[in-house]
Amino acid sequence: MTDRLWWEKAVVYQIYPRSFQDTNGDGIGDLAGIERRLDHFVDLGIDAIWISPIYPSPMVDFGYDVSDYTGVHPMFGTLEDFDRLIAAAHARGLKLLLDFVPNHSSDQHPWFLESRSSRDNPKRDWYIWRDAASDGGPPNNWISDFGGSAWQWDGTTGQYYYHAMLVEQPDLNWRDPGLKAAMLDAMRFWYDRGVDGFRVDILWHMIKAAGFPDNPLNPAWTPGMADMHRVLQLHSTDQPEIHGLAAEMRALADSYGDRLLVGEIYLPLDRLMAYYGSPASPGVQLPFNFQLIDAPWDARGLHDLVAAYEAALPAGGWPNWVLGNHDRPRAAARLGQAQARVAAMLLLTLRGTPTIYYGDEIGIGTVDIPPDRVADPRELREPGLGFGRDPVRTPMAWDGSAHAGFTTGDPWLPLHADWRSRNVAAERQDSASSLSLHRDLLRLRRAHPALAVGDMTMIDTEGQILAYERHHEGERAIVLLNLGSIEATVGLPKDFVCVGALSTIDPSPLPRVGSHFITLKADEGLLLLDKFS
Ligand code: NOJ
Repeated sequence: MTDRLWWEKAVVYQIYPRSFQDTNGDGIGDLAGIERRLDHFVDLGIDAIWISPIYPSPMVDFGYDVSDYTGVHPMFGTLEDFDRLIAAAHARGLKLLLDFVPNHSSDQHPWFLESRSSRDNPKRDWYIWRDAASDGGPPNNWISDFGGSAWQWDGTTGQYYYHAMLVEQPDLNWRDPGLKAAMLDAMRFWYDRGVDGFRVDILWHMIKAAGFPDNPLNPAWTPGMADMHRVLQLHSTDQPEIHGLAAEMRALADSYGDRLLVGEIYLPLDRLMAYYGSPASPGVQLPFNFQLIDAPWDARGLHDLVAAYEAALPAGGWPNWVLGNHDRPRAAARLGQAQARVAAMLLLTLRGTPTIYYGDEIGIGTVDIPPDRVADPRELREPGLGFGRDPVRTPMAWDGSAHAGFTTGDPWLPLHADWRSRNVAAERQDSASSLSLHRDLLRLRRAHPALAVGDMTMIDTEGQILAYERHHEGERAIVLLNLGSIEATVGLPKDFVCVGALSTIDPSPLPRVGSHFITLKADEGLLLLDKFS
């Protein structure tokens, strides 16, 4: 495995910093809290942490509205706290990725305050300003991802500005050389402080069609769907020039050595793959692959999805997989606890770099947010449609003490109802817990190159069984996942000699593994190894 790049072998863990660990009693997590919990990652077997935005921000979109790209929000701590955190992470062999938000800033960023101050301000073109349409309305029909027109009238200078997200998040104009240089400098600032890379927020939005033509109407839109889906984002996203920008960001990362860029991109497979770039002009190393989040939980469908993703990868493109993040429903809420364990086995044994979302390792599921605690701007703007993101951003549970050890104050969002038993300390004592399953899977992944970096062959099966083999230099592993709720018998390759097994539900599955067949229990995932450690 020594010839592999660190991020090919790595397991990444996403931290939502507001909810990870509070140390000053304000009910919101902070950098000192992350530092305090670094040994959690070591225990679990994580290689890299990605921290959602920690920059100064009015927090209208909880940090994705940045008002200073080279600072730390006082709520999270100071630059000195950050330096201490990264030193402590590196001392433990952990890599640290920050979240970079290049598409838009906060409307309180000094750049925007200057830009909106007059039409001839030097920073006017750092943002996207357009005249009104002939009827005085917005320049085109583009719709914000949070609903409503994506254009906001600004009376001072008599033009509209564009905001793909909230009104408080004006889009930056990456076609302006000054803006581009300033943003690349911000990345340099963090590379110089030692960060090992960035997750790049909504990378596919960064460049819009130059003429700002109307987007086509979406014939499939019906009431109940989010307002943004009234149009197809044909001209507002995924423009050809984005690949040149991604290549520039990559060249900067490469100039520092082996730094990693992970791109947030929600696009169909063929268009997603373009973000790897080409050998002559590489893009981001890992364009996030979100397919498992949306896919129906069906073995045949997932078999085809994995095969299609593998087949679509460009030569040299390394795969990656994700089950959840701070924007999408949690795996255990979507699938239930038993299948969330099967999903964890899938995530951590597929070929490619997995990203685990904080709290999924302890199996946080559905969390009810009382109406008076709703904080997410998406839910506040389009209430009741089920897009609210608060339920996936609730505090991490560490132990059975008050507020699960997250804070000594009042947590900014409520905890999951079962936190007294579903917390790190309790699950550490229980070999059948979700935490123990994650730890066991990660230990095996580390010990077996077949799992970490090996090739993958899909195995044909029937019904609700998803199966594949991983192999590397003579070592083999077989993964059998029962996505259904009835037991099923699976044939094993004739020449496979199983000496070790890990089940998502059975503490000692080995006696059941016959020489040619095994019966999987309902909702069971099984990892079979021809070597064990
Ligand atoms: C994507 C982020 O993941 C999401 O949380 C945020 O609201 C939007 N980008 C806007 O930055």
